[in-house]
Amino acid sequence: MKIMKVKNYDEMSDAAFQVMKEVVSENPNAVLGLATGSTPIGLYERMVKDYQEHHTNYAKCQSFNLDEYIGLAQGHEQSYFTFMQKHLFKHINMPKEHIHIPYGNSEVDCQAYEKALDQVQVDIQVLGIGSNGHIGFNEPNTPFTKETHIVNLMKKTRQDNARFFENDIDQVPKQAITMGIASIMKAKKIVLLASGEHKADAIATMVYGTKDPICPATVLQDHDDVIVIVDEAAASKL
Ligand code: GLP
Repeated sequence: MKIMKVKNYDEMSDAAFQVMKEVVSENPNAVLGLATGSTPIGLYERMVKDYQEHHTNYAKCQSFNLDEYIGLAQGHEQSYFTFMQKHLFKHINMPKEHIHIPYGNSEVDCQAYEKALDQVQVDIQVLGIGSNGHIGFNEPNTPFTKETHIVNLMKKTRQDNARFFENDIDQVPKQAITMGIASIMKAKKIVLLASGEHKADAIATMVYGTKDPICPATVLQDHDDVIVIVDEAAASKL
């Protein structure tokens, strides 16, 4: 696990963009594993700016998103589908049919997503981290062997995300569909981003803790190409 400490959110986003740009420039067919949440927004802004200025070509790229809420229509303003359109997809030339975002609430939906993932290898997987150490929506105690599955979101996660739902936890969905930890670990390269003091404990546990499903991100200790880009606040317990 390579740790890159940077000053702040902007520097974290710059560094993440450099890694992404290198992957996309070297391989026009790159498969991008993408994440939502506030953390990768700066990365997506830089990808959009770069696309506008340098015409980086995404025509042959594909993308697979980590997760989606259950119970929100795709067009809901807080769905991850809407998030990705708004922050990235409507601004770049990745064809619609190359974009994959899990959707649905059944085992069949999970298997269909996993099957699509099985056709490719993700070249670069972007990850954020939950304050409880979750990656994607794989909450603490999710077995590392899980593929795409349905999860019951923990209260802590719903509280953290209530800020997107008028600070009302009752509006935050109780379930989500997520790529599993085994699915995430198949990526060639993983870039985990974290900014802010509220991530410091999760980052310290991920780096120093025993590998254990109690902190899902500790599984990354086993991956041989992980770059963790953390700002000073998120790195404050390293
Ligand atoms: C969300 C997402 C994760 C994300 C994490 C952190 O619940 N499912 O993919 O990494 O929580 O979010 P944020 O970047 O907003 O702190």
